Amino acid sequence: MALLDKHSVIEKNATLLLIFSFAVVTVGGIVEIAPLFYLENTIEKVEGVRPYTPLELTGRDIYVREGCYVCHSQMIRPMRDEVERYGHYSLAAESMYDHPFQWGSKRTGPDLARVGNRYSDAWHVDHLTNPQSVVPESVMPKYGFLSNRMIAPEYIEDRLKTDALVGVPYTSEMIENAKADFAAQVDPDGDYEGLQTRYDAKVNVRNFDGKPGISEMDALVAYLQVLGTMVDFSTFEPVASR
Ligand code: HEC
Repeated sequence: MALLDKHSVIEKNATLLLIFSFAVVTVGGIVEIAPLFYLENTIEKVEGVRPYTPLELTGRDIYVREGCYVCHSQMIRPMRDEVERYGHYSLAAESMYDHPFQWGSKRTGPDLARVGNRYSDAWHVDHLTNPQSVVPESVMPKYGFLSNRMIAPEYIEDRLKTDALVGVPYTSEMIENAKADFAAQVDPDGDYEGLQTRYDAKVNVRNFDGKPGISEMDALVAYLQVLGTMVDFSTFEPVASR
């Protein structure tokens, strides 16, 4: 009873209540947040995860510009139904170079975190141009106009530099060669060795939309085709099980 009497003092004094509430929230906050700075596996680096190539990064910007995230998430949760449908659950490291990340919170369409390599480039072009031609009941809008919008990657070096500023490990060599790498990725007959040395030997080099010139369609399909394919899950082991 005596304790409750003392509590009534706090309840009747707004300033005191505020001070004590603040103290409680501060302690609680520190207890929850501070350990994260020391936990290794919250910032676990995973083999295979690399920065996007200039073309993929451009495709990603188109993805954001067109609001694809309004209908598509990019985060597979570690629940059985999700893992069976979409593949291995998403790792934090897989979106460590995404600024901003595209986890999303709405699934009008399926999760896209591992859509890379699941369909052919031609399927993506057909689907984006007219989703209902591939999936008749689809409510996805048509994005055929992307095929007619050619890209002159005027600001691509600056684009890479901006990501480098927030921690994406783009090297000065990557930034210097951004324009060349951008063009090299859609030209399988050209010299793309530099591109693959700078990024990864697995970088897809194809004429993604099958047409001459580099269109926004090329960039978007290049981005979709790399999603979820950087980590090799046949050899991946989570830190906790090592
Ligand atoms: C109005 C909601 C909506 C928007 C916006 C939207 N989509 Fe979709 N998307 C869907 C639906 C619904 C499906 C499932 C039916 C289908 O395949 O068309 C789908 C399917 C897909 C698929 C096939 C996924 C799979 O695993 O089968 C891809 C790839 C895709 N969308 C990409 C995109 C991209 C890229 C954009 C932005 C340019 C976009 N979507 C915008 C609703 C949307």
